Amino acid sequence: MKDIIDQVALQIKSKIGKHEPKIGLILGSGLGGMAEAIVDPVIIPYEEIDGFPHSTVSGHAGRLVIGKLNGVDVLCMQGRVHFYEGHSPSALALVIRSYKKLGIETMILTNASGSLNIDMGPGSLMVISDHINLSGCNPLIGPNDDSIGPRFPDMTYAYDKDLRKKLIETAEKTGINMRSGVYLMTSGPNFETPAEIRMFKLLGADAVGMSTVSETLCAVHCGMRVVGVSVVTNYGAGMVPYKMTHEETISQANEAGKKLQRVLTEFVKEI
Ligand code: HPA
Repeated sequence: MKDIIDQVALQIKSKIGKHEPKIGLILGSGLGGMAEAIVDPVIIPYEEIDGFPHSTVSGHAGRLVIGKLNGVDVLCMQGRVHFYEGHSPSALALVIRSYKKLGIETMILTNASGSLNIDMGPGSLMVISDHINLSGCNPLIGPNDDSIGPRFPDMTYAYDKDLRKKLIETAEKTGINMRSGVYLMTSGPNFETPAEIRMFKLLGADAVGMSTVSETLCAVHCGMRVVGVSVVTNYGAGMVPYKMTHEETISQANEAGKKLQRVLTEFVKEI
């Protein structure tokens, strides 16, 4: 694993020129537009990085965009890779570990999610305070390399408290309301059944989605700070009397994503 992490990091390093990002940003479904705000970008399609997994989902461009966001160097993943695409858990771990190797210290994870709270409707922004992993997958399974991180990483403070506070304050200053909540990950790719949504509410989750938790696990394991924010694109199945579609997710995320972009553009200066 170590060799391939080094190789992937080296390939990225050789292309990013003068940029020295310490902040990594993963853009979720329909949120890729934020990468357009990056000035002076170096763009690397995933296919051009040997060993890097490819993104296969519409709404996920599948490229790294490295450059300045509001004057701050960032490495941005425009389109993520999910378990449901058939990627192995270790492929996901590789992505995060190669960022760490490149010098990334803080990961900002974004996603689109379904709300489990009737008072948190589509268009809401939710800072992730904690998570529940019901994906059935864990990218840390397998032999552990102690030089990367511990065998049994602690997740008590997985989502950095100071960064969460700063993010909410930045949102307030920008005139945008952001609440906190628990994000629950399923493997997808199907949306949930109404019975599952009722169960997730009972479990104490506020939003449900198909990503992010795996990235958090890897990032925390290798010693990075993590802050996560979810863009609510719909109510959970059965909470309202209509069906869900990926297209609706994308269009709602595009809209609310503009608010998120305003907040994150300021936030990167605060880290
Ligand atoms: N469920 C799971 N993932 C999602 C949803 C949802 O309702 N909305 C956006 N991503």
